[in-house]
Amino acid sequence: MSEQSTKRTEKIRRFGMRDEDKARLLAAMRGEGASLPTRAITKTISPEYTRFDTLPCYTQVLIEKAVAEKLGLEQPYYRCHDGLSQEWAVIDGVRLSNFSCYDYLGLNNDERLHKAAADAAKRYGFSASASRLTAGERPPHRALEQALAEAFGVEDALVFVSGHGTNVSTIASLFGPKDVIFSDQASHNSLVLGAQLSQAARFVYPINDMAALRKLLAQHRANFQRALLVTEGLFGMDGVLTRLPELIALKREYSCFLMVDEAHSLGTVGPRGLGVAEHYGVDPKSVDIWMGTLSKTLCGCGGYIAGSKVLTEILRFEAPGFVYSVGMPPMLAAVSRCALACMLEEPWRVERLQENSRYMLSAAQEAGLATGNASGYALVPVLVGNSLTAVLLSKLLMEKGVLALPIIYPGVPEGSARLRFFVSARHTREQIARAIELTRDLLPVARERTENFAG
Ligand SMILES: Cc1ncc(COP(=O)(O)O)c(C=O)c1O
Repeated sequence: MSEQSTKRTEKIRRFGMRDEDKARLLAAMRGEGASLPTRAITKTISPEYTRFDTLPCYTQVLIEKAVAEKLGLEQPYYRCHDGLSQEWAVIDGVRLSNFSCYDYLGLNNDERLHKAAADAAKRYGFSASASRLTAGERPPHRALEQALAEAFGVEDALVFVSGHGTNVSTIASLFGPKDVIFSDQASHNSLVLGAQLSQAARFVYPINDMAALRKLLAQHRANFQRALLVTEGLFGMDGVLTRLPELIALKREYSCFLMVDEAHSLGTVGPRGLGVAEHYGVDPKSVDIWMGTLSKTLCGCGGYIAGSKVLTEILRFEAPGFVYSVGMPPMLAAVSRCALACMLEEPWRVERLQENSRYMLSAAQEAGLATGNASGYALVPVLVGNSLTAVLLSKLLMEKGVLALPIIYPGVPEGSARLRFFVSARHTREQIARAIELTRDLLPVARERTENFAG
């Protein structure tokens, strides 16, 4: 037998076929006219591979549910809110002080936004029906993009229907297997998936560790064609501001592109809410790719990329999440444009949010809570370590009328579970002070219950 048919025979042996099927297959391979026993091959596939409930990720879901049940815990996620979710929320008829909402500037129920939505819906309907490439655009699409570009001081912007998809599509469109991406360990899942899809090499450094980044650049940059440095403006899990001026310097020194995800820094950082470029007083054009989401400060849905005209032109024709996905509903584009205008016209909102954020961080620190390296903008993490403790603490807080959700593995590394408190310009000092006092008092209770469970 040739080497090839020996390999095939070995394959057949491993599949564990019935003798008669093996004989038929070997006869077919010798060209003796028998048909291949496809039915037999199919039969040898273990049923395990034909069911969803044998997937390892499902086993994980079941384990988590069983642990939660044993502790008498309800699932803290996917709760249904009875109505509007701003600084207060109502769940199952109970009013809760809400720290799990991204309505940073308190615009989510603003009359002007209601009017913008209603006018656009009346004129353009609800859906953009298909990709803008084929179904065409509506005036609110370009109006929002121009307003974003103007506000950020760059040439152009492009809006996508998903913030997550914006990152995945953009990174994967621009970079490829001969390129390299350097990103913070704390990068959002969408940045990681974009890098993976691009097939570029990826090197990760501890959050904001510029010395580690420099070391990686010195070691690896020269081995690749294009290089991308990716960061978040304000890290969504840690509330830490990026070190933008140093990243710009490194980008120049090592000939890289720089991308900044401003999902949590738009509206929250900088005197007018224009993010980290405004905060550090750097030229926005020194960053190649500005990304942000429209779902938080701008009360809509989706994401944007802002930068040069060449960049938006490439993405307009190449980014799969733009070309092959529906255009943003025109009424949501109109809402986000209106929210952006409100933010710029009413800097007091940004100021109040920043005061509230600083107040919450210092109150948490004074109460002895671990807030990591949080910078005091928009979100305050309270690090508790153990995932179970985080879930328990969230439940205990909810029983006392405070809504703050736990972030556990895989959202953050194992052992660094936390509660994230999202601050709004609408929160009162009393609300914030009460939330922190309760957290301080209930954390030991949650810890004790975790220990009892482990014991
Ligand atoms: C840093 C960051 N980037 C991207 C996204 C994805 O945005 P969206 O939820 O609007 O899809 C998020 C979501 O919260 C985020 O925190």
